[in-house]
Amino acid sequence: MTMDFASRVERVEPSATLAISNKAAELEAEGKDVVDLSVGEPDFDTPENIKQAAKDALDAGHTGYTPSNGIPELKEALVEKLHDDGLTQYGTENLIVTPGGKQALYEIFQTLIDDGDEVALLDPAWVSYEAMAKLAGGSLTRVDTAAHDFQLAGALDDLADAVSDDTELLVVNSPGNPHGAVYSDAALEGVRDLAVEHDITVISDEIYKEITYDGVEATSLGTLDGMEDRTITLNGFSKAYSMTGWRLGYFAAPEALVSQAGKVHSHSVSCAVNFVQHAGIEALTNTDEAVEEMRQAFAERREFLIGLFEEHGVHVPEPQGAFYMMPEVAPDGDDTEWCDAAISDAQVATVPGSAFGTPGYARISYANSKERLQEAVDRLAEHDLI
Ligand SMILES: Cc1ncc(COP(=O)(O)O)c(C=O)c1O
Repeated sequence: MTMDFASRVERVEPSATLAISNKAAELEAEGKDVVDLSVGEPDFDTPENIKQAAKDALDAGHTGYTPSNGIPELKEALVEKLHDDGLTQYGTENLIVTPGGKQALYEIFQTLIDDGDEVALLDPAWVSYEAMAKLAGGSLTRVDTAAHDFQLAGALDDLADAVSDDTELLVVNSPGNPHGAVYSDAALEGVRDLAVEHDITVISDEIYKEITYDGVEATSLGTLDGMEDRTITLNGFSKAYSMTGWRLGYFAAPEALVSQAGKVHSHSVSCAVNFVQHAGIEALTNTDEAVEEMRQAFAERREFLIGLFEEHGVHVPEPQGAFYMMPEVAPDGDDTEWCDAAISDAQVATVPGSAFGTPGYARISYANSKERLQEAVDRLAEHDLI
């Protein structure tokens, strides 16, 4: 039998990060020692008190469906967090709690993007934005920030040239995956001016907001004058609390959008997992110390790894947040070839910059021990890859 697949699925490529993980798994199955710097998750266990809260919730019988948009106690705790971040426009009626930030993004794209609608991305951009835009039928316009060491401030003129009254949606991700840049307030004000001028809705993906360095803080776009009702603020528990496998995220948006997206949400996932939502309350209210410990470990590794690359004369735009950096590994060559050689010859897994729209670079995740980071750089040097 020949199956006829929907064109919306056929226009999307499989995830590049997944292809690398598969290759790493293959080599490991052959008994090879792979240093995996391709992963997008913290290497810490979930803090103990969060796990305990989930166990307590199970024991208390929180095992059924919940209200579709989330349990009231979690939504109240989220509103408090958002208000602390200066996002005072949001109340519980502005929230949808989702199984992961990814599902939140999927619902937003499905709700806002029709066939042919234009979605603007800032490259390098996380791989799933493109896929979600295409699944919804959107067309992409992309602005590269690599020439400005991934700082949006330098690319505002290019953004101004790229967007128009036809642009429906812009995605801003600060601190960003894959680059780790935190956009300055001046850059965000530039985004605001363009969004207001062209009546563009903006997703502010703040999933790495808690992970910043050197005293830098990531401003929430929705706190800017004029952005209160055109920003969709997206966040999740995966990165800050090391809860990737729990699948818990959320977005906050004007009520009209929540009401439309709520249809996609309730008809697809019904709700986020009940006892996980209870654990989310513990994560929000009682983990400052654990979050700070993880942040400090990332900060140390960041310094360490930048130092190692610099010793080998590799240009690395300094990240101010998240746990990724993008060294320029193939300034005149092919980053996909470089990443293939890194994994096949040196057994170091990284992700090619071209997967994020930025050739010449590779994404390195430093959610790994200093010993393994040192090992990775030593092996790359041994194989003349740096
Ligand atoms: C930029 C960005 N946004 C959203 C997500 C979604 O994360 P999750 O679905 O685990 O909440 C990720 C995960 O890698 C990410 O890197």
